[in-house]
Amino acid sequence: MPSLDFRSDNVGAVAPQIMSAVMRVNADTADGYGRDPFTKSLAHIYAQAFDADVAVFPVATGTAANAVALSVLTPPYGAVLCHPTAHINVSECGAPEFFTGGAKIVPVPGPDGRIDPSELRRALDRAGMGQPHRVQPAALSLTQPTDLGTVYALDVLAELCAIAKDHGLRIHMDGARLANAVAALGCSLADATWRCGVDILSFGVTKNGGMNADAIIAFDRRFGVPLAFRLRRAGQTFSKMRYAAAQLAAYVENDLYRHLASHANALSARLAGRLADTDIPLVAPVEANEVFAYMPPPVVRSLESVALFHRYPDDVVRFVCRWDSCAADVDLLAHVIAQRGSAEASP
Ligand SMILES: Cc1ncc(COP(=O)(O)O)c(C=O)c1O
Repeated sequence: MPSLDFRSDNVGAVAPQIMSAVMRVNADTADGYGRDPFTKSLAHIYAQAFDADVAVFPVATGTAANAVALSVLTPPYGAVLCHPTAHINVSECGAPEFFTGGAKIVPVPGPDGRIDPSELRRALDRAGMGQPHRVQPAALSLTQPTDLGTVYALDVLAELCAIAKDHGLRIHMDGARLANAVAALGCSLADATWRCGVDILSFGVTKNGGMNADAIIAFDRRFGVPLAFRLRRAGQTFSKMRYAAAQLAAYVENDLYRHLASHANALSARLAGRLADTDIPLVAPVEANEVFAYMPPPVVRSLESVALFHRYPDDVVRFVCRWDSCAADVDLLAHVIAQRGSAEASP
């Protein structure tokens, strides 16, 4: 099996700080279903991390976070607007539609994986608000970083949130890799979320050094009660919740999320820099920890013998750098791509 592994951040190991935190709660008994002291302390720990009074709910997956978060933002006859490439639109097997009781996902385009503010305004102006024949836009879902590895600037995020709120929508953020965005922007978690207008966040942990826990963070605590009931109904209320809580607590302690994400981002930038010296064009600017590139099939086939990576239609490939990736692997990957690419180009 090829040793260079750039398939996904899901293939990575658990960060030692998170593993140690899990081990620390693995002593003695503790009450179940979130009534243990570790889970109870999360509200305080996350209030400090987000500089706001928040409701925090550990969940098992990013899909659960997205689907259940959206279920408190929209009625069944509502619409959730998102970019066409959004994970909720293309990769969650209809979970958002299912958990919202049938709300419609409505794609709104824009270049490089980002929703274009003028397209959002256009979509909302033409949505038929108040017409019983039409689904009613209820939520805007923003993915940060986007599903093409780009990052929304904070002023654009704020503009998108303001447009949506002017039309009465609530804002969800899919932050499966939010740490990579805040590391890239050099901003705080608060700046990247509620200060721009985000109401509910799916906060990813697993992809950036966690074991198997993400979270829903509600900045409007009124969502806390419906979330608690909906999560239980969705089978997302861990009985031994302390193990998930330990991961979430360790993730924000001493800005661990930022340190891990900065390393992954730096490696992706390194790879993008190397690819700039080849004939392999990028699909979108590299701004976080993912590199999307167009690669001719012969180069892909030849690269597959030495590296693992994701293939998409239309000759698109993706390389993901993780908190536990290393520079030597990136350099070797770039070297092999350059070598195979030039061999392909030569007559
Ligand atoms: C942007 C984004 N959101 C949500 C998810 C869902 O995460 P999970 O696979 O844990 O359900 C992913 C997973 O790849 C993702 O990339």
